[in-house]
Amino acid sequence: MLGCIVVDRTLVIVKPDGVERRLIGQIVGRLEAKGLRVVAAELRTLDAATAEVHYAEHVGRSYYDGLVSFITRGPVLIVVVEGPAETWKVVRTIVGATNPLEAAPGTIRGDLASDLRENLVHGSDSAESAQREIAIFFPRLA
Ligand code: TYD
Ligand code: MG
Repeated sequence: MLGCIVVDRTLVIVKPDGVERRLIGQIVGRLEAKGLRVVAAELRTLDAATAEVHYAEHVGRSYYDGLVSFITRGPVLIVVVEGPAETWKVVRTIVGATNPLEAAPGTIRGDLASDLRENLVHGSDSAESAQREIAIFFPRLA
């Protein structure tokens, strides 16, 4: 519709390894350089209950306990970014494949990570996940 400004939001988390390795600026910088806008951000250490809600779909997987321990071991930067459309997909392209050893050069994981668990960044994997995850961390934006 003429005059209608369409925006789409998704959730990004710079994981504890990203904060520890002083990569917040580089990770958020890559998203900003693409043209995405930061609309909310908070640095905090997740408690286990919050991590379990966020990663609920992974319950029962062999890596689940390690994932929850990792994501709660220190501060993370939780960010909501906004773009014109399908922002979750744009972020996932910039972040790269889950396994950094398979992630393409030029992606965050491809360039900066080498461990499957400690892969620096979370990005929502669908529009529905983005909505669910934004509601967990920034209820006022949901
Ligand atoms: P997943 O949602 O599949 O990956 P992504 O972060 O790319 O959306 O998995 C969530 C996290 O769980 C992933 O970032 C790293 C960790 N993980 C493992 O440690 N081992 C595994 O075999 C998988 C699939 C994921
Ligand atoms: Mg995922």
